[in-house]
Amino acid sequence: MAKNYYITTPIYYINDIPHLGHAYTTVAADVIARYQRKKGDKVFYLTGVDEHGAKIAEAAEKAGKSPKQFVDDLVPVFEKTWRKLNISFTKFFRTTDPTHESLVKEIVAMLLDKGFVQKRKYEGLYCVGCERYLLPADLVGGKCLDHDKEPVKQSEENYFFLLSNFEKKLLDIIESGELAVEPESRKNEIIGKIKNGLEDISISRKAVKWGIGFPGDESQTIYVWVDALLNYYTAKEIFGQESWEKHPADLHLMAKDILWFHAIIWPAMLMALNLPLPKKIFAHGFFTVNNRKMSKTIGNILDPNSLVEKYGADAVRYAILREFPFGEDGDISEEKIARRYQNDLSNELGNLLQRTLSMINRYQVKIESVEGYYDYEEEPSSEEVPTTEVIVEQKLRTLEFDQALSAIWKLVQESNQYIDSKKPWQLAKEQKENELKRVLNLVYARLGSIANLLEVFMPETSQNIRKQLDKLEPKVLFPRLNEEK
Ligand code: MSP
Repeated sequence: MAKNYYITTPIYYINDIPHLGHAYTTVAADVIARYQRKKGDKVFYLTGVDEHGAKIAEAAEKAGKSPKQFVDDLVPVFEKTWRKLNISFTKFFRTTDPTHESLVKEIVAMLLDKGFVQKRKYEGLYCVGCERYLLPADLVGGKCLDHDKEPVKQSEENYFFLLSNFEKKLLDIIESGELAVEPESRKNEIIGKIKNGLEDISISRKAVKWGIGFPGDESQTIYVWVDALLNYYTAKEIFGQESWEKHPADLHLMAKDILWFHAIIWPAMLMALNLPLPKKIFAHGFFTVNNRKMSKTIGNILDPNSLVEKYGADAVRYAILREFPFGEDGDISEEKIARRYQNDLSNELGNLLQRTLSMINRYQVKIESVEGYYDYEEEPSSEEVPTTEVIVEQKLRTLEFDQALSAIWKLVQESNQYIDSKKPWQLAKEQKENELKRVLNLVYARLGSIANLLEVFMPETSQNIRKQLDKLEPKVLFPRLNEEK
């Protein structure tokens, strides 16, 4: 029977233009969504936008629009970018959805009722960029590192969520793996933070007008992060899915900047509400440019749209997942993407397909059933060597996309080397027809499995290879960059 599978990306701030950092999470989630679907699961893949908060209201005012008009106009920017990258999301979430707004209010009212929210006076250092109060330990040289800005002293009477009540429970669920936090190094960081002690957090804002009204006190709005995290819950209701109670998220994917919110605040809220926990939270690394985080504030962003126009969706998907281990930071640049395009895609994969099909046509080789043609070894070496299919499956389970792709590329490279060493052109000259047929059938079959393995990473290319294999008509897969356009 088909299983349900629920995967999410963060909901991105709508006033940020979607950049390659956002695309990283979204593409990775797409690969997993496609993979689970291929295995037969019914996948609910949720992405969307975070539309409330002071920064958005400010940006709207600058643009001379009402906040709602401003966000309405920006939604297509995100949707179009994800379509261009062939992201197979199921639904696109907006925090201005009226059902979301009323559910969030109800849920916060429930937290109040249960005694997990209390009114208190608070004074602290507020970073407008992060939209949160920072602790002295978060500052470097008195500044917020992510925004390179000094936070401002602010004091207000707020409603507090009693996060400190959940220290022990959070430790238990994370240490025991009931809630998986990955990679391991991030899990240890989170455990360390919990052990250092958790403070109650303010979950209402007087100064922020563009937000969901606080239940019972309309002079305040609900803190954007509480509003945003609840999207994972309300989406199930809004889009008529099996409820969170029945099926919480299988995987929340994000970068390390917001792991704290997902691995601490979110599970604490869920426990306060007696709701089930997500199964796994995975935080990947940052894309940096010259070693600084890629972000709009710093002004060093790469635009996925123009990269897709130049290199195609599949090349961008491939390059960003192949270049670095997913859990770690990586310094990205257009040159790196162009190099992947030229070497891996054009010279290695494209060339393999072209030369194989050209030789099959030129020497009129009959293509036979692919069964039994899988291995290049004359004698199978050892049964313990896992097949590439098995390696890719293992690597996807641990979100090691770079390694899954290198395993597939090993097949591509071996195939090119195999052709070079067998020299089909010489076999043809010497009229060794059986050998010629065997060699080209082997490579042909291998190309079939490469197409199959690439399907979740590079859907268009995979289809294109399959079509060419079916019709035996070679067409350039990845044109040389200077020949193109
Ligand atoms: N709106 C909140 C998330 C709420 S989720 C309940 C938010 N939005 S954001 O627009 O700032 O997006 C943060 C996420 O964007 C990161 O966690 C990551 O998924 C992605 N990235 C943003 N910049 C990135 C890099 N430079 N590198 C990798 N991922 C990046 O936080």
